[in-house]
Amino acid sequence: METIKGKYILIAGATGGIGSETARLLAASGAHLFLTGRNASKLAEVAASCKLDGNAFHACDLSKPGEIAGLKEKYFSAYPAIDTLINTAGIGVIKTTDQLSEEEFLTTLMTNLYAPYALLRAFLPAMKEQKKGLVIQVPGVLGKVPMAGAAAYSASKYGLVGMMQSIREELKRTEIRFTNLFLGGVDSTFWDHIDLRVQRDKMITAAEAAKTIWYLCQQPQSGVISELVLQPFNHQAI
Ligand SMILES: NC(=O)c1ccc[n+]([C@@H]2O[C@H](COP(=O)([O-])OP(=O)(O)OC[C@H]3O[C@@H](n4cnc5c(N)ncnc54)[C@H](OP(=O)(O)O)[C@@H]3O)[C@@H](O)[C@H]2O)c1
Repeated sequence: METIKGKYILIAGATGGIGSETARLLAASGAHLFLTGRNASKLAEVAASCKLDGNAFHACDLSKPGEIAGLKEKYFSAYPAIDTLINTAGIGVIKTTDQLSEEEFLTTLMTNLYAPYALLRAFLPAMKEQKKGLVIQVPGVLGKVPMAGAAAYSASKYGLVGMMQSIREELKRTEIRFTNLFLGGVDSTFWDHIDLRVQRDKMITAAEAAKTIWYLCQQPQSGVISELVLQPFNHQAI
């Protein structure tokens, strides 16, 4: 199994429910963490809870072309390499097509599809140089099974899955692993902005979702977990 101790790990979406729990678990396992999120004060709080100094986090809006250049610069001035990229940044807009605005559609694509692309564009070259690395994306089960009212979200997550499959083909002769984590409902701040009747107490906890990512960071050295599905007992879509 791969070890976490001493690994250089970037977590995008570290201010979120899943990302912040993951950060704390990986910090406790001895990783060299670098965190990013949009909300600067929340990011500083999460970084402090992981005992990181000011060089190991950087706030930016990943949906905006150009902002990732600053993240890359700050990351590589803190650390010499990147072993693992965990992308837990994302938004959920769950609306029927007649309620969904063009702006919401585009923002969803920019956050859930463009941002993962831009992160890979910034950090894959270093992994290619090392000929080794691990990328974990979180498409969610709506990136595998569509749901009514999720046209924008599913488009972004299906796009993410397609993009990752293509990049996996591109790099299959390297030791860079690509893992898609398909999560069902996770009780996190994600649902605070979604106008839908859901049973949050029946969802997976953010802490359990984070433990799954922690486990994925330690996948077998001779193989790859290309995908993993974790969904609540009472709502199994797959
Ligand atoms: N919760 C679920 O039920 C569920 C299920 C399946 C898949 N997922 C996926 O899992 C991932 C994490 O979800 P979560 O539950 O942890 O959600 P969350 O608590 O809402 O956290 C989302 C994270 O994404 C960041 N983010 C959003 N827009 C961003 C932007 N433009 N630039 C940079 N960062 C941005 C947020 O940063 P700020 O807070 O700093 O703005 C936050 O760190 C998402 O990709 C989501 O689609 C979630």
